[in-house]
Amino acid sequence: MSRVALVTGGSRGIGAAIAIALKAAGYKVAANYAGNDEKAQAFKQETGIPVYKWDVSSYEACVDGIARVEADLGPVDILVNNAGITRDAMFHKMTPQQWVEVIGTNLTGVFNMTHPIWSGMRDRGFGRIVNISSINGQKGQMGQANYSAAKAGDLGFTKALAQEGAAKGITVNAICPGYIGTEMVLAVPEKVLNERIIPQIPVGRLGEPEEVARCVVFLVSDDAGFITGSTISANGGQYFA
Ligand SMILES: NC(=O)c1ccc[n+]([C@@H]2O[C@H](COP(=O)([O-])OP(=O)(O)OC[C@H]3O[C@@H](n4cnc5c(N)ncnc54)[C@H](OP(=O)(O)O)[C@@H]3O)[C@@H](O)[C@H]2O)c1
Repeated sequence: MSRVALVTGGSRGIGAAIAIALKAAGYKVAANYAGNDEKAQAFKQETGIPVYKWDVSSYEACVDGIARVEADLGPVDILVNNAGITRDAMFHKMTPQQWVEVIGTNLTGVFNMTHPIWSGMRDRGFGRIVNISSINGQKGQMGQANYSAAKAGDLGFTKALAQEGAAKGITVNAICPGYIGTEMVLAVPEKVLNERIIPQIPVGRLGEPEEVARCVVFLVSDDAGFITGSTISANGGQYFA
């Protein structure tokens, strides 16, 4: 029977590419999203992948949402923690709200999603968790103290949990994308993209969401059973961690 994969923030951007790639690889896939019903419904129509709305920054909402997914598809074997937001500001202008929102979704959200699923994975002796961190969690980025802190936290979480899961057949890995051509990045003014960001990427272009998705498909496969606690950098050579 095919394994069940749950992708947070799976209705658009990198998460949508991951959900589509996992479905193509034969998994039963569910995609979570936060609030953009229009995009989520269009994604469901196009792909046939069911979508589930809840906010990963709420533990109770995650428990409830995961229960809905499991009632429909069965126990979650594969969790891709992809949901993420930015609230950029130079630190002297950053508000406590901007800090709390980004930590809440990008770091606490990873706890909130993984914790309710973890015991079942331990009991069944199998699990695959992939956390989508960021190049900016590895190297830091001005204007993103909140985001860089959350994404670096995701890497520490990955390494700690990998040690706990190893003997139970659960692998926990992270992917650090560089600049990928999604709405999050294409919201950056074109001039800034062309003159400041792309020149810093040795391959000379933004990454494609599908390039991140293919890393996920590999990490969740049986072939990757000996890989845990690791980080794949998919950044066009921009930064070597
Ligand atoms: N794009 C890049 O260059 C890049 C680089 C490095 C890392 N990343 C990371 O990759 C991940 C995906 O980024 P992206 O560019 O694909 O983002 P995106 O296009 O903005 O899509 C974000 C997705 O996350 C969902 N989401 C946001 N907050 C949520 C919440 N609180 N609860 C549940 N779902 C939530 C959104 O749902 P709605 O549609 O309902 O809002 C949407 O499905 C993020 O973790 C991001 O930090 C991206």
